[in-house]
Amino acid sequence: MSSSRAKIKVLSPANSSYNFEQGLLEGIRKGLDEPVSPFGSPLSSLTSSAVSSRSASPTAPVSTSTTPSAAPEQYPAPKEEVTLTRKQKLKIRNKEKSKRRREKDRLASTEHSVKPNRAAKHLKNTGKVSATFEGETFPISKKGWISRRSKGSRSSVSLADVVGPNSKYNLELRKWNGRTTMVIVDRKRRIIAVCLGKPENDETWEDTHRRAAEVLESARDRLYFQDKDLNHRRGGFPALAVGISHGGGQKYPKVLDQDKRNEEVFEEILENKAFQRISGFTSGAFAEWAPRLYEYENKCLSDIIEHDETIRRENRHPRPEEKELRRNWPRTPWAATTFNFGPKTVCRRHLDFNNLAFGWCGITALGNYDPTKGGHLILWQLGLVIEFPPGTTILIPSAAIEHSNVRIRGNERRYSVTQYSSGGIFRYVHNGFKTVDSRMGELDSDELADHLDELSRQLEFGLSLYSDVAELEKARGVSFKE
Ligand SMILES: [Fe+2]
Repeated sequence: MSSSRAKIKVLSPANSSYNFEQGLLEGIRKGLDEPVSPFGSPLSSLTSSAVSSRSASPTAPVSTSTTPSAAPEQYPAPKEEVTLTRKQKLKIRNKEKSKRRREKDRLASTEHSVKPNRAAKHLKNTGKVSATFEGETFPISKKGWISRRSKGSRSSVSLADVVGPNSKYNLELRKWNGRTTMVIVDRKRRIIAVCLGKPENDETWEDTHRRAAEVLESARDRLYFQDKDLNHRRGGFPALAVGISHGGGQKYPKVLDQDKRNEEVFEEILENKAFQRISGFTSGAFAEWAPRLYEYENKCLSDIIEHDETIRRENRHPRPEEKELRRNWPRTPWAATTFNFGPKTVCRRHLDFNNLAFGWCGITALGNYDPTKGGHLILWQLGLVIEFPPGTTILIPSAAIEHSNVRIRGNERRYSVTQYSSGGIFRYVHNGFKTVDSRMGELDSDELADHLDELSRQLEFGLSLYSDVAELEKARGVSFKE
């Protein structure tokens, strides 16, 4: 993302009923005579499909009709000139000024604010799945912040392996059309995962997620992968992560190492409108369904970025030549994102034990596959196999519940995007921007006892950041569907 911003003059369309996004899409469809991709929308290269913030202003669609349309639609009659009093002019000026200020604040903000009416509407239309699982069994490590390691599995499973009386595991199949939100609650009615679906009443979403899949498909051939990126704990498909990480002996949080040759492609992916929208939707929903956890994760990310800026300004950074910490997208609360480039992204059973032990991760499925036949999300400790249609998003505690996908069929394609934060970042902030060893070394025996006592209660703290059903019903003034 570019740090420099061009000055932009904002012009309002003359026709107030003109829908810019819809118009843009129609313009693209009409203007380009492109072959159709396996995802159903016009196939374009990564560069051309990227609607970059640096790209030139899109052109409004041009009508190809030879019949003149009704004049008021396209050429509104000139308005009668109205003479305004000084007071009226001042009022309009002030109104415009405060509108500009609000927009500026919105863009500068790194937080999503939950809109009460919209959140109440979402809650009212949400389904609920009750699991017998208890959050208290999350496998948090003794040192806190991350989870205990788990072996995972070396193979993927078919639907017949996990569902049905003859299956090895006989898990519960949850049908999900991806249009209505479905929350999963534990025995204490604590919301532990949310099948979000997709933005409601958004006709452009279909095109958005198809374009995102195209971008990943097209990027795969331009990227350089090492063996560890092609075959890893999660499966045998190409995957690369971008963002900030802390762990594995690092002394402080850093930007994830990237092959220099891949940097340009990642800039394009991060600036692509489709991924910006996926990130915005996922982050906004996180703020809505787990407001305290969202705030905790978002604040911690702000803290490490601010700390990085401060030590650079004060010339205290140990290696100032390293990249500055920044968010992948302006308002994401997650420090890192992994792009899974397919064409068959099917995860084996695994636990992301380096992620925040009680944190949530956002998974967005992309591609072209029949979600009733494959691609399901399996949540092993919950005993659930959930249909996971392309273009939909699910939030899960990925360090706490083992998860995987059902295999897709031979001719199908699946990609995914996961947003998450490593637990080490939170530990670093909690320890006053120090590693755990340097922090421990400074404590006397009483302080150390307090520190260990606090660590032993960390899961309790983590779960206190989750919302429960009654709390959200009370806050939003509506009830869940039963
Ligand atoms: Fe995972």
